[in-house]
Amino acid sequence: MNTAELRHGTCSYLDSDPTSQAPVMVLLHGFPLNSRMWRHQVSAFSESHRVLVPDLRGHGGSTVTHGTVTMAQMANDVAELLDQLEIIEPICLGGLSMGGYVAWEFWLQNASRLKQLMLFDTRAQNDTEQVARGRHMMAAQVVREGAEMAADAMVPKLVARTTKDWTPELVDEVRRMILETDPEAIAATQRGMAERVDMTDRLGQIDVPALVLCGENDSISPPEEMQQFAEALPNGQFALIPKAGHLAPLEQPEAVNSAMGDFFASTQ
Ligand code: MLT
Repeated sequence: MNTAELRHGTCSYLDSDPTSQAPVMVLLHGFPLNSRMWRHQVSAFSESHRVLVPDLRGHGGSTVTHGTVTMAQMANDVAELLDQLEIIEPICLGGLSMGGYVAWEFWLQNASRLKQLMLFDTRAQNDTEQVARGRHMMAAQVVREGAEMAADAMVPKLVARTTKDWTPELVDEVRRMILETDPEAIAATQRGMAERVDMTDRLGQIDVPALVLCGENDSISPPEEMQQFAEALPNGQFALIPKAGHLAPLEQPEAVNSAMGDFFASTQ
C-alpha cells in the first residue's frame, strides 16, 4: 500500500502501476470495510487499467477523524488524492454501497472528472428518518461496545446464503475487515451516511456511461430498486449477479469481472 498526506491526514491506497498510461479506474469500498475488498478486481484489471483503490477516511490504513464524516468529505479526499497523483484525465469511478454514495457525491462535485461510473450494490435514495435514527443509535453503541457489535449486526446481512454455505472463509474475512475498523470511524461514517443526499431526482442528469450491478440476493440494496435507478440513468446498464448478496465483487468475482469487461468493451 502507498500513502498520501491529505489535508485531514493520511490516505492509504493501492496503485496498481503508478507509471501506467492505461485508463484510470478508482474503486471505493463499502462500509466498514477497506480496499482489500476489491482484490479480485485489482488482479483482473491491472493490465487494462491503472487501478487505484483508496482506504476511505477512517478505514484500512487511512487516518480516523471523529464526529461525523460525510460522503462529501470522502469524495473530496478522493479528488485530493487524484490531484496529488496528478491524474487529470477523466476516470472510471466505481463504488460499492457506501462507496457508491461517495461516487454520487464525486459526480455532484466533479462531474467533468468522470468518464464512466460503476455502482455496485448501492442505493440512490437517502435514508428515511427511521433508518437515520438507527444509524445514530448504532454509532453510540459501537463507540461504547467496540467493532464486534458492528460485525455481529452487519455480517449476516452482507453476503448471500450460498456464500455462507460454500465459502465460510469469505465470511470470516469480511468479519475481520470490520473488526480492524476503529469504532470511532464506524460511528463517524454512520453519522455521515445518515446525512447523505437523495440522488433520485438527479439521476436523469448523470449522463456518463454507468454500470449498475447488483447481487441477486442483496437485501440491503435490492435488485428491483437498483434496476429502477439504472433505467433512470440516461446511459445506464444493469447487471444482475447470481448467487451473490451485498458484496457481489467478493462473492462472485468472475461474474462481476465479466460484467465489468462487457461494460468497458461497450463504452471505451
Ligand atoms: C455498505 O455496505 O457500505 C453499507 O451497507 C451502506 C449502508 O449502511 O447504507
